[in-house]
Amino acid sequence: MGGKVLKLGVLISGRGSNLQSIIDHIEAGKIPAEIKVVVSDKKEAYGLERARRHSIEALFIDPNSFSTREEFEKAVGDELEKREVELICLAGFMRILSPYFVNRFRNRIINIHPALLPSFPGLHGQKQAVDYGVKISGCTVHFVNEDVDAGPIIIQAAVPVFDDDDEDSLAARILKYEHKIYPMAIKLIAEGRVKIEGRKVIVKAEKKEWAVVNPPLEI
Ligand code: GAR
Repeated sequence: MGGKVLKLGVLISGRGSNLQSIIDHIEAGKIPAEIKVVVSDKKEAYGLERARRHSIEALFIDPNSFSTREEFEKAVGDELEKREVELICLAGFMRILSPYFVNRFRNRIINIHPALLPSFPGLHGQKQAVDYGVKISGCTVHFVNEDVDAGPIIIQAAVPVFDDDDEDSLAARILKYEHKIYPMAIKLIAEGRVKIEGRKVIVKAEKKEWAVVNPPLEI
């Protein structure tokens, strides 16, 4: 024990169930990481409450009190740096980060998206999948670059889409897998197993199939 612990900053805008999953995995000793701070751009975000309950510092930074997006992001970045955060985890943070922020924390920002990227980027990934009629969707953890939901992919989980699904039922099925793959991605990074090579993320893992999570099909 006593090895290196990766310092995390988690950015949220809402309910914070992914944040909760990260907290639970850390508390269970499954990830060599520590959340130094949770930052929300929404005052009423329930995730702030979750953080405080686990004695994690929780900050609301009001985007409306800055005149530009960059100024807001600079304030967020300064708070993260003050706490020596090494990896920034976007967990339901509903803002597009500017090239300024991406550049400042190059290859140190990851995001969870509720679709199998590059399909259905942007808002409402689950509704987009239902409306399109795909039979499989899922979720993706990826590094953040200047383009929306387009950075190198670390891990994905596939989830079936049923004929009677609506946005909410699919979102609930996908969310269960989000709660598995986000902690897994952080664990891999914290253990130093992740390397970015161009568009690709190379992961050192025992099993070659580590990145594929196939839900059991019920027929
Ligand atoms: C999650 O489903 C996450 O994938 C999605 O918001 C939800 C946040 O839930 N993120 C995006 O759509 C980003 N474009 P949570 O606050 O309970 O973790």
